[in-house]
Amino acid sequence: MMVFQSKVMIVTGGASGIGYAFAEHLARAGHRVVIADLRGAEEAALRIREQGLSAIGITTDVVKSSDVESMVEKACAEFGTIDVLINNAGLFTTLSLQPFDQISEEEWMRVMEVNTLGPFICAKAVVSTMRKNGGGRIINVASTTPIKGTPMMLHYVCSKGAVIAFTRSLAKELGSDNITVNAIAPGFTLSEGVLQNGMQNIMPETARKTSRTIQRDQVPEDLVGAVAFLASEGAGFITGQTLAVDGGSVFL
Ligand SMILES: NC(=O)c1ccc[n+]([C@@H]2O[C@H](COP(=O)([O-])OP(=O)(O)OC[C@H]3O[C@@H](n4cnc5c(N)ncnc54)[C@H](O)[C@@H]3O)[C@@H](O)[C@H]2O)c1
Repeated sequence: MMVFQSKVMIVTGGASGIGYAFAEHLARAGHRVVIADLRGAEEAALRIREQGLSAIGITTDVVKSSDVESMVEKACAEFGTIDVLINNAGLFTTLSLQPFDQISEEEWMRVMEVNTLGPFICAKAVVSTMRKNGGGRIINVASTTPIKGTPMMLHYVCSKGAVIAFTRSLAKELGSDNITVNAIAPGFTLSEGVLQNGMQNIMPETARKTSRTIQRDQVPEDLVGAVAFLASEGAGFITGQTLAVDGGSVFL
């Protein structure tokens, strides 16, 4: 029988949207959560602590290694270790649909920076602690867009394709350290950022639903079970995988 153990889990981009849903769910499950976000990290952690749960918020830019290293130090000082890293921070909900030849090089580089350099910097910052612990979990938030070949967001789609590649190669590098590396690939999710930026309008409601096997809109709470599972003891022999969580729109 597996005994429940409270783990220390970093959720990047955990102050809002999908990341906040992860942080709150994992804290409710008894874990100690570190919210690392550019903005709103402490406020989000406070919302969780007000429920009698364990969370701290640390303002962090995931593309700045000095920020990330200091966040990991503070997290270790507060909770003693790091067991799980959830690389969720990403640029998506502030982007607009554009034909590829209208995407500027600056925007391309920024999307790649946050969505691929960020997870790389965060993984580097936690790996020595996980090695010392004898293991750990890295969970990357990809997307189903590179699987579908979604048009009009080429930089974003390429960045999430890179996250899937990153997951596979890093899993091979870290297997002997007992660190698993997996990804979840959400479908189009009505997160806070999507709703605030009116992004739900990029796809008509009927198309959002009929493209799925389970014909309804996807919300952040639909993703929490998959992340909790990948972080759990029971998922210790699963690595390098990408789990599509999208109501059965793509089949991998
Ligand atoms: N919403 C969707 O339809 C959808 C679908 C597939 C994948 N995803 C992915 O899920 C993740 C979360 O998406 P969301 O819809 O909740 O997005 P969101 O825009 O609502 O939230 C993103 C969070 O990341 C933070 N962030 C952005 N840049 C950061 C940086 N440099 N350092 C630290 N934090 C930073 C933001 O402050 C914000 O809190 C992203 O990686 C996104 O690409 C979203």
